[in-house]
Amino acid sequence: MSEFDATAAVNIEPTAPVPFSLLPDSSEVDENGELTIGGCNIAEIAAEYGTPVFVYDEQHLRSRCREAVASFGSEVAYAGKAFLCIAMAKLVNEEGMCLDVASAGELYTAIRAGVPGNRIVFHGNNKSVRELQMAREYGVGRIVVDSADEIDRLENLHSEDGQVVSVLLRVTPGIRAETHEFISTGQEDSKFGFGIKSGAASAAVDRAKASNAINLLGIHSHIGSQVFRIESFDKALVVVSDFFKALDLPELSIGGGLGVAYVEDDIAASISEWGAQTKDTCARLGITDVRILAEPGRAIAAQAAITVYTIGTFKSLPGIRNYAAVDGGFVDNIRPVLYGSEYTSFAPQRVLEPRPDRARIVGSHCESGDIIIREASLPQGLNVGDLIATPVTGAYGHGMGSNYNRMGRPPVVFVSNGEARLVVRGEMLEDLLRLDID
Ligand code: LLP
Repeated sequence: MSEFDATAAVNIEPTAPVPFSLLPDSSEVDENGELTIGGCNIAEIAAEYGTPVFVYDEQHLRSRCREAVASFGSEVAYAGKAFLCIAMAKLVNEEGMCLDVASAGELYTAIRAGVPGNRIVFHGNNKSVRELQMAREYGVGRIVVDSADEIDRLENLHSEDGQVVSVLLRVTPGIRAETHEFISTGQEDSKFGFGIKSGAASAAVDRAKASNAINLLGIHSHIGSQVFRIESFDKALVVVSDFFKALDLPELSIGGGLGVAYVEDDIAASISEWGAQTKDTCARLGITDVRILAEPGRAIAAQAAITVYTIGTFKSLPGIRNYAAVDGGFVDNIRPVLYGSEYTSFAPQRVLEPRPDRARIVGSHCESGDIIIREASLPQGLNVGDLIATPVTGAYGHGMGSNYNRMGRPPVVFVSNGEARLVVRGEMLEDLLRLDID
């Protein structure tokens, strides 16, 4: 059950224009007051590709990848679950990041994008034999082993062909990061990893060190996602460091999880700040001569994109509220209903205007919970047919999309230097039938 509380108080959105700090790096306003990203007018993109549409600032993505490499070194991985398609996998590889994949589908995308095996990190709490085989065949550089059953599977596969795989063992430090319960993973009571306190982690290390099937490279710990307080990573490092230092292994991964600002009041650290603090903490804890790895997903992709919608229906309930229904919803953003996540909105053709009008922005699905923004601020007097956009939708938006109500998932467009390119086309009616057998 979602912890989403329909009666919870929500932040009252400011009526000022949308803050540029929430928009992709290359956002500008043209002479008509309209938003451009990557030199492309957003209304023109909407006209060409239709709405809803995800528009990603390619240079923003590239610059965050470079920041990650500068902060953590060339073995830092982008967590593909945040947003993945062939173009994204290629971009990440071009920018010198490794790619973290967490399923056969993500691995297949990496393979089809030509990401070399040694640049792939393979995650998952329940990897199947088929997935492990696929990873071994492709020469995946690091398999992050999550359970004793997975060690069994790797040993069985090794007994058939003698292939040895390089492995990090995922441990749970027993730290609860301050984030939503569904995306907190470091606590003892977790489906992920080997608990340090219970002794499971030590037993797994002993087994991995003794195994012919495994080349144990290091330890991995991921405490959760959308973590604002970077001290949480330090708390985990304090627990992990005592365990790790005794093992004499070359690598320690702190996982991903760095939070990003979604609305004006959110304060988030940058990747560079996270990297610097991690280095300092490791040095203080005596973790030296070790490769420190990380796997940011959201911090690379979230702020790189906006989702553009068209308003289709207004409903005004005097004394209650206004509704503005757009042509997307769960299908492109499940996060508000799943985690109670907040977003802001603006009109891409009226970017600099104040936003005095109030409306609940809802999608087109057959559920009252299909809410994108509970209490949105909008420029005065928007009409049916006008565009509105939500910033910071580049992570866990398209990737968590669905075909609920048999609606097609929206297209994804990368913009850069005045050019737009379609990297994922929108699903059409025929796509929705492609698996049906009549
Ligand atoms: N590494 C591991 C092992 C992970 O499980 C995750 C995210 C990451 C890295 C990347 O975390 P990030 O840097 O993106 O926070 N659907 C949720 C987020 C789920 C995250 C799952 N694991 C959301 O929309 O907030």
